[in-house]
Amino acid sequence: MAARLEIEGGVPLRGRVAVSAAKNAALPALAAALLTSEPVRLANVPALADVATMTRLLETLGASVAGEGAGMAVRVERVRSDVAPYELVSTMRASVLVLGPLVARHGSARVALPGGCAIGVRPIDQHLKGLAKLGAEIVIENGYVIARASRLKGARITTDLVTVTGTENLMMAAALAEGTTLIENAAREPEVADLAALLAAMGARIEGAGTARLEIEGVPELAGATHRIVPDRIEAGTLLVAGAITRGDVTVTDLVPDHVSAVLAKLEECGVGLEVGPTWVRVRGPERPRAADVTTSPYPGFPTDMQAQLMTLQGLADGQSRVTETIFENRFMHVAELARMGARIETDGAIAVIRGVPGYQGAPVMASDLRASAALVLAGLAAAGRTSVARVYHLDRGYERLEAKLAALGARIERRA
Ligand code: EPZ
Repeated sequence: MAARLEIEGGVPLRGRVAVSAAKNAALPALAAALLTSEPVRLANVPALADVATMTRLLETLGASVAGEGAGMAVRVERVRSDVAPYELVSTMRASVLVLGPLVARHGSARVALPGGCAIGVRPIDQHLKGLAKLGAEIVIENGYVIARASRLKGARITTDLVTVTGTENLMMAAALAEGTTLIENAAREPEVADLAALLAAMGARIEGAGTARLEIEGVPELAGATHRIVPDRIEAGTLLVAGAITRGDVTVTDLVPDHVSAVLAKLEECGVGLEVGPTWVRVRGPERPRAADVTTSPYPGFPTDMQAQLMTLQGLADGQSRVTETIFENRFMHVAELARMGARIETDGAIAVIRGVPGYQGAPVMASDLRASAALVLAGLAAAGRTSVARVYHLDRGYERLEAKLAALGARIERRA
């Protein structure tokens, strides 16, 4: 049976905990190493399953990867293969981030279509339309995207919707295109801005990082660089909810408060006590949270990656809350499991209505996707009695040593094989 986490709930968490580097910034940063023949040094790569998968993928493409303390050096002196195989892409959709860099650097790419995942269909049509605008020839064959371009040419691209990895793929491709590329309706997530900072350190010319309008002046080639990855705002938000939901007193450090402003605003609305410093946030949990409605939206709105974690807190609130999930079509997988712990949640399409209950009961539950598993851990920390979260490999994709961090705050939690 896959590893699981055993949690004895009801312990108020206390103390300080540091946030790790962001998974969703580390993955594009690793892919960016394909854009140069020189080494790219990342100072603080988080030890996550998805990072290991991306590293393995890069090695199949010709990268040599060396651990350097808490960091990593990746060098693609020569692209040896342009194939991102289905068995890797199907386990991690972010593999699609090698598409843009491969076409830009190597002139061709064969990337398996990611297929759906637990939270939704998640097509990549915007990635492909943008690459075609940059002059790539795109065909779909046997479940693979085959993209070719002798030299990409700058273009004006307006994506039909905001896409984080779509923006990242197109920004990386445009960095080596001939001429200027304009990307409108670009994603503004901090991870996109962090990638732009790495690309700039490599010699790319990018204006507007972090805004909806990116202007990229293509250059003939990029150099190596050293980069420190931005802290993980979703892990930070998850740890803040852990302090709040256990009526604890926790200081989360090494984060960028600005990147969690929507989450902090919502926690405040729920009656959570907050103190915000330059690189830390102190959270004190209320006796009982207040109900609050939330609608997910692209950054700087409330992040979909925090929706399940907040719902767990709303499940204990004094009143009724409404959650509207606008980004993914099936991101309520945690609801059925929370209900088994006593939560009262009704879903109808993109809307969930939560009627707060005084407390959760511990129960054996099953993780289904990365953030749903985080929500179940949070519920277990608050519940009376024992909770066993199975299939914790979902958690390992995006949280570095989460149980160790929580145990250091006093949680009674341990991993069982
Ligand atoms: C990124 O996924 C993140 N992953 C996700 O985090 C995050 O939930 C998501 O952005 C939204 O913030 C990484 O950065 C590696 P999108 P991504 O393209 O880029 C639709 C986590 O838990 N869409 O912004 O795949 C898509 O179906 C993960 O860490 C198209 O229709 O998300 C979705 O409904 C989960 N066509 C919406 O847009 C496209 O070509 C947003 O997707 C692209 C996307």
